Amino acid sequence: MSKKVLVISSSPRVGGNSDVLADAFIKGAKESGHQVEKVNLAGKTIEFCRGCFVCQTTQRCVIRDDADQITQKMQDADVLVFATPIYYYEMSGQLKTMLDRGNPLYTTNYKFRDIYFLSAAAEDEESVPNRAVSGVEGWIECFSNAKLAGTVFAGGVTDKGDIKNHPSLEVAYEMGKAIN
Ligand SMILES: Cc1cc2nc3c(=O)[nH]c(=O)nc-3n(C[C@H](O)[C@H](O)[C@H](O)COP(=O)(O)O)c2cc1C
Repeated sequence: MSKKVLVISSSPRVGGNSDVLADAFIKGAKESGHQVEKVNLAGKTIEFCRGCFVCQTTQRCVIRDDADQITQKMQDADVLVFATPIYYYEMSGQLKTMLDRGNPLYTTNYKFRDIYFLSAAAEDEESVPNRAVSGVEGWIECFSNAKLAGTVFAGGVTDKGDIKNHPSLEVAYEMGKAIN
């Protein structure tokens, strides 16, 4: 069955390593007939969550910036994919800010079930993305119908373009292709 897949790519470097990893995932998902939309947070206006909790009664953020529209796309997607550079062993601030702004989703009949997490970092030890994965798991824990369905880490990539021919690209492609 064709699924609606929303990919949120959070690097400020469009065409950077995590963004290219996201594209490999997208290629696989499209080949399996899924409907994929990609949103790059670069260039978007996304304010911090104000913690006002208005969204818990209105299901909509009081701040009408780009995060408001992205949150609505998140609500309608069956599958969410988050791509991020590792910044200080965590997800990017851009992605964390977007996840906080997704707070209106908490009281909605959000459709997403499977969530994938893709990351890239300069160091290549397996443990490098652990804190970032743990962070997204914390977000997912608040959405009891959803689960972390897969993670891909591209280690040892620093400059834009370093990810070319990296084995993680094949892993991401196969993961996207295997969505069902
Ligand atoms: C602010 C900042 C913090 C970073 N922190 C880490 C880190 O903790 N560990 C690491 O291995 N690489 C770190 N890096 C390197 C990036 O993760 C790496 O360059 C990655 O490929 C960037 O992905 P992108 O091209 O998708 O933006 C950091 C880079 C920046 C700019």
